[in-house]
Amino acid sequence: MTISSFWPCFICLLCSVLLSHGVEASHHLYRNLQADQSTFDNNQPYRTSYHFQPPKNWINDPNGPMIYKGIYHLFYQYNPIGVVWGNIVWAHSTSTDLVNWIPHEHAIYPSHPADINGCWSGSTTILPGDKPAILYTGIDPQNQQVQNLAVPKNLSDPYLREWVKSPKNPLMAPTPMNEINASSFRDPTTAWMGPDGRWRLIIGSKRNQRGLAILYRSKDFIKWTKAQHPLHSAKNTGMWECPDFFPVSTDTPIGVETSVMGPNIKHVLKSSLDNTKHEYYTIGTYNLVKDRYTPDKGSVDSDAGLRYDYGKFYASKTFFDSSKNRRILWGWINESSSVADDVKKGWSGIQAIPRTIWLDKSGKQLLQWPIFEIEQLRTKRVDSPTKVLKGGSMVEISGVTAAQADVEVSFGIKAFEKAEMLDPSWTNPQMICSQKSASVKGGLGPFGFLVLASKGLQEYTAVFFRIFKGQGKYVVLMCSDQSRSSLNNDNDKTTYGAFVDVDPTKEELSLKTLIDHSIVESFGGMGKACITARVYPTLAIHDETHLYVFNNGTESIKISRLSAWSMKKAQIN
Ligand SMILES: *[C@@H]1O[C@H](CO)[C@@H](O)[C@H](O)[C@H]1NC(C)=O
Ligand SMILES: *[C@@H]1O[C@H](CO)[C@@H](O)[C@H](O)[C@H]1NC(C)=O
Ligand SMILES: *[C@@H]1O[C@H](CO)[C@@H](O)[C@H](O)[C@H]1NC(C)=O
Ligand SMILES: *[C@@H]1O[C@H](CO)[C@@H](O)[C@H](O)[C@H]1NC(C)=O
Repeated sequence: MTISSFWPCFICLLCSVLLSHGVEASHHLYRNLQADQSTFDNNQPYRTSYHFQPPKNWINDPNGPMIYKGIYHLFYQYNPIGVVWGNIVWAHSTSTDLVNWIPHEHAIYPSHPADINGCWSGSTTILPGDKPAILYTGIDPQNQQVQNLAVPKNLSDPYLREWVKSPKNPLMAPTPMNEINASSFRDPTTAWMGPDGRWRLIIGSKRNQRGLAILYRSKDFIKWTKAQHPLHSAKNTGMWECPDFFPVSTDTPIGVETSVMGPNIKHVLKSSLDNTKHEYYTIGTYNLVKDRYTPDKGSVDSDAGLRYDYGKFYASKTFFDSSKNRRILWGWINESSSVADDVKKGWSGIQAIPRTIWLDKSGKQLLQWPIFEIEQLRTKRVDSPTKVLKGGSMVEISGVTAAQADVEVSFGIKAFEKAEMLDPSWTNPQMICSQKSASVKGGLGPFGFLVLASKGLQEYTAVFFRIFKGQGKYVVLMCSDQSRSSLNNDNDKTTYGAFVDVDPTKEELSLKTLIDHSIVESFGGMGKACITARVYPTLAIHDETHLYVFNNGTESIKISRLSAWSMKKAQIN
């Protein structure tokens, strides 16, 4: 590794503008929108107040999250000069609490042959001696996807602002020998160390329509050798983007470092599917002798499998927070607005609130909850006394800033006679939610929140449950219905849905929603099912926004707990 000169940023931008044409990845390339639009709109009802976003332009994948000497780092894919994908660099922000962020100069940008056509996603590994190292995908002069290393220029700089690229780059590249598809070879994970003292990592790929987690090994982090077999693969899943592979403890919610193996440990493999733009994960066993991962029986290895989020959430990545012994998940939430509207508002894309992630007691799924630090933004609490919400009624939750709020409710259900039968052919929760919107009366449900609602309910987003009588058990469905979210019909208003694995005869049914102007991020069943939506109301903005709890079933529902908070603005760059 040498100390390279730090190029002034205008040169990096110039390079990327001149050289990035023709590299399309899986994002649409709007050639006519690559120059700065500068029609920045002052009226910004959709900008977030506490979800991470830069002041303007396009962002996508979170990259290389880590904590180093008490400071959290978030890098992210960023277009410095436009609201659409292109000219991608690694933008960089740091925080001491994961809530308030300060921006820094771009950390990684095209400057060497191995990344001259793009600096795409990657991960950080903390090497022995507490030395962070970034591995990322570069696009080389032949437009091949290759993997590169960068390390901090000055470990004494608390913000690690400057990064030096290895003169050995690229460290991993497609060759005629290794049969790697040079257009489908990207997004290296955080590396983990095996019992033999060698580092391992995976890189997303595909062969025909088989998704691959290509495995590499290294003794020194510089010379990497491709393993004969992928860590795992699955047919008909297409390109695996942004794979993530990490251990979880089977007996505590405490997070574990990425190299931890042994008893009481299961592993999680996540991939982001380029074909469907959904992510799925499996829980399984990592065989250290064979260096292979096998999903548990019943852990579905396809787009129909488990998802971190059943709404908008992509290119996610976890890291181990050694200061609080937890594993934290970051994910990108894209817009549901038209490109014309994105140009008008001058930005596109945000990051979800970081979530702590751990294995459920059942061992069958993960649980997620917003990092506790976000609660420091809570102000002005409103509590509702226990009450019965009759079928066909709704109650306004007043006294909070409804466009910028955190709201939690627990529902208790006593009588189940009126639960509708679940047709055994209804296996797709999103489909059921689409057919049975909030306005379709049921027996037990729909009940939940109407958020970002206008006074006369011309606009609202409904987040709700329905309980069905299934085969020998009750089935809980959670929906996020955007169909009435905005009078602007240029938006994608797809309805999202998920089954929540709770037994409503034994536990209360909880729902938490983080509302942030154009974001509705919901957690059902204490984090068993998450759904994130983007909405752009035209009437329900700022102080004209209302929040309700409603029940449109015929059976009454008990609200055993309801609290709402106004949320303060965070420093988000
Ligand atoms: C490294 O960073 C520290 C802390 O910011 C600074 O005092 C020092 O001058 C830096 N060293 C170099 C070589 O830039
Ligand atoms: C390699 O990946 C690209 C990009 O997805 C695809 O178009 C191409 O067909 C793949 N080539 C082979 C040989 O699979
Ligand atoms: C982003 O959102 C659009 C429209 O809402 C969707 O069709 C697209 O697939 C999304 N892209 C990704 C990468 O999630
Ligand atoms: C509740 O149901 C009634 C009758 O179907 C409908 O008019 C109303 O819009 C529904 N409420 C919501 C929030 O959808």
